[in-house]
Amino acid sequence: MKKLGIVYFSATGTTKALAKAIEEGANEIENTQVRLFPIGKEQLVDGRFVDLAVLSKLGECDAIVFGSPTYMGGVASQFKAFADATSELWCEQLWANKLAAGFTCGSALNGDQSSTLYYMITLACQHGMLWVSVDAAHGYTKKNINRLGSQLGVVAQTTSESLHEIDLATAHYLGKRIAGLLNEKTRVPLLHDE
Ligand SMILES: Cc1cc2nc3c(=O)[nH]c(=O)nc-3n(C[C@H](O)[C@H](O)[C@H](O)COP(=O)(O)O)c2cc1C
Repeated sequence: MKKLGIVYFSATGTTKALAKAIEEGANEIENTQVRLFPIGKEQLVDGRFVDLAVLSKLGECDAIVFGSPTYMGGVASQFKAFADATSELWCEQLWANKLAAGFTCGSALNGDQSSTLYYMITLACQHGMLWVSVDAAHGYTKKNINRLGSQLGVVAQTTSESLHEIDLATAHYLGKRIAGLLNEKTRVPLLHDE
């Protein structure tokens, strides 16, 4: 059984909805156990993420997907506190070779969501993880996903509490892709091969 952890912060629920869509997509691949790790205020003390049990459970995962709303062109401070807490693991590269991916939501069509994903990529690379992209060329995929043209990870945009169905479909697809990559026998076919 391959394990996939999705660790995310969400204040008003849109990033959470993306996390659930990624979970649903990953669950479509056999032999995959998915677990959500929402970052809550009880885990943050004096600005620090203190829930070491979560770090330990993520250490058991074969893949970790990072999620945060875009706040001022970057990850939310709650997610950054989580990221900072992983520094103890960084010293010994305990997450090396795990797969990683990311997702974010912003209220603007270009609200610098890419900067949030770049930070997540940096975090993953600091840990020696392997970043999984969105293999859907905007305007050329047969599937109706990736409407905003981000291949670094899932970028969503909304000004309400609900998400665009294509953004949810993109998140669902990324979950399926990363779980497929974990289970070589059920590797998701490349979009262009379908
Ligand atoms: C402090 C703050 C800063 C924000 N900065 C940005 C931003 O830089 N770009 C953007 O597109 N949206 C920005 N937003 C909007 C949020 O990213 C958006 O509402 C998102 O959907 C919230 O995610 P959540 O529902 O998971 O909490 C910001 C919101 C807040 C509260």
